[in-house]
Amino acid sequence: MMDVINYLDLAIRAAIKAGKLQKERLWNDHDIRFKGEINLVTEVDRECEALIVDTIRENWSQHDILAEENDYAQSGSGFRWIIDPLDGTTNYAHGFPWFCVSIALEIEGEVRMGVVFHPMMDELFTCIKEAGAFLNGRRLEVSTRKPLVNSLLATGFPYDRAWDNENNFTNFINFQMSARGVRRAGAAALDLAYVAAGRLDGFWECKLKPWDVAAGQLLVVEAGGKVTNHAGEDFSIRDHRILASNGLIHESMVAILQKDGTA
Ligand code: IPD
Ligand code: CA
Ligand code: CA
Repeated sequence: MMDVINYLDLAIRAAIKAGKLQKERLWNDHDIRFKGEINLVTEVDRECEALIVDTIRENWSQHDILAEENDYAQSGSGFRWIIDPLDGTTNYAHGFPWFCVSIALEIEGEVRMGVVFHPMMDELFTCIKEAGAFLNGRRLEVSTRKPLVNSLLATGFPYDRAWDNENNFTNFINFQMSARGVRRAGAAALDLAYVAAGRLDGFWECKLKPWDVAAGQLLVVEAGGKVTNHAGEDFSIRDHRILASNGLIHESMVAILQKDGTA
């Protein structure tokens, strides 16, 4: 089997190409369409997805693809690329420069490699399972900050928050009361990359999709952090509730999430 590093090289090339396009077009007018009342997609999301998928298919036409903006026929190949071509679309559509590209590769059901590229900062986060997490080639480690009251956290809110009870509002209040701060920057893959880099100490969210978390959760684990569901159990990218932390504040975060009753 091809070494995972070859797949990583391709993912890096595709992510940088897509990120460059995002940066160049950020402050242009966009063709904004609605997937829901507040769930947007721009022409840049779609073009980036096409660009990434074409780059993969030129090299590995038999691999499966799971990506946000299109359904792709699944062949049952043991290789599946999981792609969020532009994470942070609401930010992007408003010209708020905080978004990224996220690409992961699952082999036989296990995420083995991930890339998150933040074009505005020129920061490339990469990881290979059991080989560490890196930022522009420099090894990453999660923070050593504790307890929760000294910690900086991040979260996000689901697109159906106005009409569904699992809207993360109670958790947000509870964490605001018990941590140093909670950020809602608008790109889940970057939030996870920031936990891996020790710039955030913890992150939780609900109703995320595999493409939001596949690369980022591996970054956190490879940087020495912990990733579970909200009950503190093993995490799979098919779970929609994620909790990622430096490990040291994990139990305290589980305790807060349990108070909400939806975890
Ligand atoms: C969204 C972002 C956001 C999170 C949402 C996601 P998108 O992804 O990651 O931070 O709160 O739940 O859906 O739609 O911008 O790719
Ligand atoms: Ca996303
Ligand atoms: Ca997206």
